[in-house]
Amino acid sequence: MPSDPRLLFISGSARAGSFNRQLAQLGAKIADANGLMATFADLGDYPMPLYNGDDETGNNVPENARKLLAVMAAHSGIFIASPEYNASISPLLKNSIDWVSRVRDDGNAGLEVYKTRVFAIGAASPGGTGGMRGLVAVRNVLEMGLNALVLPDQVLLARAKNAFDEHGHLNDKDAQDRFKAVIVKLARAARLLHG
Ligand SMILES: Cc1cc2nc3c(=O)[nH]c(=O)nc-3n(C[C@H](O)[C@H](O)[C@H](O)COP(=O)(O)O)c2cc1C
Repeated sequence: MPSDPRLLFISGSARAGSFNRQLAQLGAKIADANGLMATFADLGDYPMPLYNGDDETGNNVPENARKLLAVMAAHSGIFIASPEYNASISPLLKNSIDWVSRVRDDGNAGLEVYKTRVFAIGAASPGGTGGMRGLVAVRNVLEMGLNALVLPDQVLLARAKNAFDEHGHLNDKDAQDRFKAVIVKLARAARLLHG
């Protein structure tokens, strides 16, 4: 594990024009501008079938679950931008999280990666609540389901259609500063945990 924290920014939506992708990409940009090593990951680049226990005989998980796990393992802090679907987590994000948790190549590698990274979560929504209700589900999956450490701070972006300028920055500079503060805290927490 490198001594400098490496931050991974994941979008829980692979939709063309996704607001959550824009949020995750902005996070990576802010981290980079503040001297932090940052990577953006699009779950659309790691397609996996909808989880069915019948597909998982022995150690049989999709190769993309192993690839996504490897990317997560190469970072010590992970920010996830998750769309709110009917007050809950997106199927894409849940399915990806579930498959990664099933990787057993190296002991319990799939479960270990959640226990040993620091997470921060956020959401962007065209509605007025900024995807806040969906994050309750995301937090529950990570904390209760996977024993992950998730920062209490959350990034909420309401009325996302008009939130970004032509450079992908937030029109609301205070909101962008708050996002930066969460990223800096994530880096600090990742450094503390990983030395
Ligand atoms: C099935 C479905 C359910 C949705 N439920 C909510 C919701 O509960 N709250 C909300 O703010 N937006 C809801 N939306 C709207 C999404 O926030 C919107 O489609 C958003 O753009 C998705 O994120 P993305 O832009 O990153 O793809 C829902 C959309 C879909 C397709």
